Amino acid sequence: MSFLFFNRKLIYSVFFIFITLLALKKYIDINPLLFTKKEIKNSNFEKNNLNHNKNPKHEHKNNTVVSPFITLNNGVQMPRIGFGVYNIPRSITKKCVLDAISVGYRSIDTAQLYGNEKEVGEAVRASNVPRNELFITTKLWGCHGYFDAINSIETSLKHLDIEYIDLLLIHEPTGNFVEIYRALEDYYRRGKLRSIGISNFNEEEYLKLLNNSKIIPQVNQVETHVFMQQKTFKTFLENYGTQMEAWSPLASGDKKFFQNAVLGEIAKKHNKSIAQIGLRFLYQQNIIIIPKSTKIERMKENINILDFELTDDEMESIRKLDTGKSLFM
Ligand SMILES: NC(=O)c1ccc[n+]([C@@H]2O[C@H](COP(=O)([O-])OP(=O)(O)OC[C@H]3O[C@@H](n4cnc5c(N)ncnc54)[C@H](OP(=O)(O)O)[C@@H]3O)[C@@H](O)[C@H]2O)c1
Repeated sequence: MSFLFFNRKLIYSVFFIFITLLALKKYIDINPLLFTKKEIKNSNFEKNNLNHNKNPKHEHKNNTVVSPFITLNNGVQMPRIGFGVYNIPRSITKKCVLDAISVGYRSIDTAQLYGNEKEVGEAVRASNVPRNELFITTKLWGCHGYFDAINSIETSLKHLDIEYIDLLLIHEPTGNFVEIYRALEDYYRRGKLRSIGISNFNEEEYLKLLNNSKIIPQVNQVETHVFMQQKTFKTFLENYGTQMEAWSPLASGDKKFFQNAVLGEIAKKHNKSIAQIGLRFLYQQNIIIIPKSTKIERMKENINILDFELTDDEMESIRKLDTGKSLFM
């Protein structure tokens, strides 16, 4: 009899806890791991993706050029030309991002490491372009495992203060990156991240991640420019469904990029600049580019690469500039 009474008490208690949790979940963001499949479906993920880029065509608006999009493996549309903010001092980041948006950029690439997430967020909030027409990337830095990655994502969300992040990358394959990526997957399912990916992962690291995760990275951002073209790696990533994105697409000005004779000759023929030829070379191969500049005239120049095409011969002569070596390692 007392056994039955005890059991009934236990059942009531479990039932009570369950009902309380269910009621609380409406108001509190309980641990993401408790989310069921149905809850994921109804989460912000759907809302954020449905409202995004309803008309994602490339347009010329008031003398600005708006980049065409690439569809990532989860259906999210990402601008093919974005604006990088590495090395832009915090004091001028907000102005630079607003300048970039004013000349047509809709994608901004920042990172925790750059120290300017807050200013990027301020610019996004101050801009008159609706949030769902902008695409904001940031990158996690210095995480070791699942739990500090969770804290780190929360910090980026807080610094940016833009409701959700369009693309979150693991900046480098350090720490337990499989566990770090699991945190990204959980936040992706909750709708706080529209897409997720990696940066600076080589083939081996990429495969290790792929074999131990559920979501194929949407993007791998790696060093890519005319001197390091990453041709085989691009095909490798494409075969698995991951989009390649080029960092330092202007080789950061290194190796006398802006004085290169091959690029200079092609530039003359098209009445374009060397920067535009180097960027068009990557763009024409469906590689996402994120050139950086603090000068509005150069920002305009770097996005203005849609009105001409490099011929097969020109592509071929630029291919010969590939050294296969990083400029920065
Ligand atoms: N994931 C990673 O590990 C990683 C690493 C590096 C970079 N990135 C990302 O990639 C972005 C771009 O890379 P980056 O900043 O290293 O280099 P970049 O875009 O290849 O080159 C930027 C340099 O070129 C100059 N420049 C830009 N446009 C120009 C033009 N039209 N004519 C002449 N000079 C021009 C800039 O100077 P001014 O500013 O004076 O115009 C700056 O010195 C970064 O901002 C960052 O978002 C990611």
